[in-house]
Amino acid sequence: MKIMPVKRIRAKLIMPPDKSITHRVLILSSMAKDKSILYNLLNADDTKRTYNILKSLGIKFKGDFNKLEVYPKTIKEIEKPLYCGNSGTTARLISGYLSSKNGLFVLYGDKSLSKRPMERIITPLEMMGAKIDSRKGYLPLIIKGNKLKGIDYTLPIPSAQLKSSIILAALNSEEKTIIKGDKNSRDHTERLIKQMNGKIDVKNDVIYVEKSVLEPLKYSIPGDFSSAAFFITLAILHPNAKIIIDNINLNPTRIGFLKILEKMNANISYEIFESNPEPIGRIIAESSNLKGIKIPEKLIPNAIDELPLIALVGLKSEGRTILKNASELRVKESDRIKSVVSNLKNLGIEIEELKDGFVIDGKQDIVGGKIKTYNDHRIAMMFSIAGLISKEGIEIDNVKSVNISFPTFFKYIEHLSF
Ligand code: S3P
Repeated sequence: MKIMPVKRIRAKLIMPPDKSITHRVLILSSMAKDKSILYNLLNADDTKRTYNILKSLGIKFKGDFNKLEVYPKTIKEIEKPLYCGNSGTTARLISGYLSSKNGLFVLYGDKSLSKRPMERIITPLEMMGAKIDSRKGYLPLIIKGNKLKGIDYTLPIPSAQLKSSIILAALNSEEKTIIKGDKNSRDHTERLIKQMNGKIDVKNDVIYVEKSVLEPLKYSIPGDFSSAAFFITLAILHPNAKIIIDNINLNPTRIGFLKILEKMNANISYEIFESNPEPIGRIIAESSNLKGIKIPEKLIPNAIDELPLIALVGLKSEGRTILKNASELRVKESDRIKSVVSNLKNLGIEIEELKDGFVIDGKQDIVGGKIKTYNDHRIAMMFSIAGLISKEGIEIDNVKSVNISFPTFFKYIEHLSF
């Protein structure tokens, strides 16, 4: 597909529902004591993996992703292996969920997911008492559920998937679990458990979780900030643009990218209208005169999925932009440092690859060319945005991967003027 430049952008958008929250409400409502009602779930490949796994484990669902009733049931062992597709969140959260269940479960994934590290969850879940076999720390995993005990664990990586995997196991463990070292990674799991009256407490960056009876949820999922980030980037980089995004999740652990862009002088404003249990509001982003910065390390966990876009922002800014301490990008759906650097170099952009980030100088123009997505949804969408601000358009090798998180992405692209 070739994405051609556009002259003028004016748009009011509502983003698809949040992917991270969709995974979590599906799993947590399956653990509740009674029927939950969920509205506005993300209907995309990744979230369907979590849904299909829960369904094959015996959870009953009624309705569709606009309105879904969830009827919890005691999970039983099934022979069929459970397919996580491309979804790291599914693999890691479902592992925590299954660790306390009675039975043997096999999890596997696609080629990309099979290369992503699982040792990070295996270690704490085994400390809690689960038995997990893996192919040298990678999928497939064979999980033998067990009666679990609480642990006192310091996270070696600021990962919300890891934290959530432990929390889900801890909700069904005999003693209290204490999780230290969370560097403010996304906290949707904690918020939802509180909303469901579960026993979870967060004090001075330490999380305490205990065996809980969860009340059912009645919840409508707000728009995904990570999807909005593509349009925010487009608005600030395009010379004649204004984009308004409504009903968007503005959870502080998700909007590191907005904070970074504010430091880069972006013409952005946002307002929170309600907060239950997630802050929801509006973002307005417009054409900007940007300046390069060194990305503050403490904002990295809150901007983890948006960091590739910093390269696009950097190349249009005045001065130099430096991203370091982001080696987690190497173990996402693709090696995102390599995907960003090699594609930008192919487009004629000067960028230096670091082991844990990149350095890019500003005031460069994207003329056009071809890029490879490495089947990574966020790389496909990032370079579509690059096409819209290029001089001659960008040819993208394969855009199917947008189905992972944002199946309607190209429909949005078609309607950017009003
Ligand atoms: C996610 C957490 C992040 C993020 C991923 C979704 C989640 O991964 O990159 O897209 O839903 O918990 P890590 O927590 O491993 O950094």
